Amino acid sequence: MASTQSQDAIALLKEDHRTVEKLFEQFEKASGDGRKEKLAQQICLELSVHAAIEEEIFYPACEGKVEEDLLKESYVEHDAAKVLIAQIVAGAGSGDEFFDAKVKVLQEEIEHHVEEEEKRLEGLFSQARKADLDMDALGEQLAARKQELTKSYQASGIPKPELKTMTDAEV
Ligand SMILES: [Fe+2]
Ligand SMILES: [Fe+2]
Repeated sequence: MASTQSQDAIALLKEDHRTVEKLFEQFEKASGDGRKEKLAQQICLELSVHAAIEEEIFYPACEGKVEEDLLKESYVEHDAAKVLIAQIVAGAGSGDEFFDAKVKVLQEEIEHHVEEEEKRLEGLFSQARKADLDMDALGEQLAARKQELTKSYQASGIPKPELKTMTDAEV
């Protein structure tokens, strides 16, 4: 349920994490190709918007205020997830025999990444919380951009992801 009250940045990002976890659980229990594809599409949309607003707004705000290594790993983890997301989006409805496996591996990757962000004390969010960041202002920016991107992705599909750390990658 969308709340009309403004949220601070970390509350908003954590709520996104919970939304995606629930969708992954639903995917695990779902049967029928149509239902699974619909859930997978929704997972990919939510994750694409979430990664974009973190990379455009939240991570840059953390720059210089949290451990550099942790931030760099976050970007790489996002890129790894984007590769799978692109595969899942392209594979939906095409009878990809690895479709369910890709969603499962994406779930595992995201679980790990969310843990890195939310870990108590040393996680990215904890470190950001200790830094002097205006979480309310950031929350407003994140919410506005999230709304804008969600609309656009719903209308014209999830765009081909932009990789930030693997620009030269070729497979
Ligand atoms: Fe996140
Ligand atoms: Fe993230």
